Amino acid sequence: MTIQTLKITSLRNLGAVELQPVKGINLLFGENGSGKSSVLEAIHLMGLARSFRSHRIKPVIQHDHSQCTVFAKVDNRSGLYSVGVSRGTEAELRVHINGSTPSGLHELAELVPLQLITPSTFSLLDGAPKLRRQFLDWGVFHVEQGFHIAWKRMQRALKQRNTLLRRGNIDRSQLSVWDAEFISASHLVDNYRADYIARFIPVWESVLAKILDVPDISLSYYRGWDRSADFSEVLAASVDRDIAQGFTQYGPQRADLRVKIGRANAADYLSRGQQKLVVSALKIAQGAFFTEESKRPCIYLIDDLPSELDKTHRRLVCELLRDLDFQVFITCVERESLADFVGAGPAKLFHVEHGNVMEYDEIQTLANCQV
Ligand SMILES: Nc1ncnc2c1ncn2[C@@H]1O[C@H](COP(=O)(O)OP(=O)(O)O)[C@@H](O)[C@H]1O
Ligand SMILES: [Mg+2]
Repeated sequence: MTIQTLKITSLRNLGAVELQPVKGINLLFGENGSGKSSVLEAIHLMGLARSFRSHRIKPVIQHDHSQCTVFAKVDNRSGLYSVGVSRGTEAELRVHINGSTPSGLHELAELVPLQLITPSTFSLLDGAPKLRRQFLDWGVFHVEQGFHIAWKRMQRALKQRNTLLRRGNIDRSQLSVWDAEFISASHLVDNYRADYIARFIPVWESVLAKILDVPDISLSYYRGWDRSADFSEVLAASVDRDIAQGFTQYGPQRADLRVKIGRANAADYLSRGQQKLVVSALKIAQGAFFTEESKRPCIYLIDDLPSELDKTHRRLVCELLRDLDFQVFITCVERESLADFVGAGPAKLFHVEHGNVMEYDEIQTLANCQV
């Protein structure tokens, strides 16, 4: 999907901003604090109804305003949609898709498939497993139709089971009812994830090979319990410890992805720049796989692409994104480094200054400057 028009109101220092991005690469440049990341934050808000920089919505809303709003016209290949998302200081949320309120946020996520790469992107490699599970589930959700329902079933059974575990006097027959549901939903979730990752790995390998040469790098999936064990036996064997701890220790809620170099953890072995490239390859491959499956392009938000990347790799990443036909929003501070990003193909330049965003007609000049 492609954003054709984007209107942002009262979000951080962006009072009223309107831009017409291109399909292809949109570069936002400007001084620190000018509002570049806030534009990406607005697009993120439109796709996921939340910021990527703050858990709370209040700091995102412009001072002395009661709500922030993002409105966009998007082309989803199946047609044109108008999407509006607004959040109030008390966290109120209003979402409209073509004038109607969707049944849930998954409709928004489905319509606006976003991938985000920021300077703290490394955390996908060295941070908590939850981040990798979210990454994995983004892909499964967008590619496997039944996943969302199976995941919700699994979460509900897990919640009920954990509530029972925390109760002092456990009714084992009640526990076995939730166990049966948890086991059945867990298998479904695991099957969806395992199928997805098996098909995803070759895409990731081919994307990575275009931007980084690291021998013996591998990606594997841990399902949340021993690969060779039967899940009902695992649950039965761990029930006493589960009761003692008050939560379920094994299951899809503990699934993870592991990136290794030989037998070592990639995060312990690679430089920051290499880690950024590995994570970028994961995210770009996920968008490429999604587009291949759904025939819809993905939107990439890349905050401060130059950080940690040298000139050659900046350009390689950009060329890859451009060749995959995504709509990409890239921020950077220095005008000089823009020339590293602008190759052939559609690109638009925006200058951000004190919360104003202006189209900048300098792409051609920059492209001509390239060596
Ligand atoms: N709630 C808010 N209301 C008004 N201005 C804000 C708010 N939150 C942050 N700002 C200001 O908005 C600007 C946004 O910065 P940001 O988008 O991070 O800039 P950049 O990415 O260009 O460095 C900063 O100058 C910041 O001080
Ligand atoms: Mg910024």
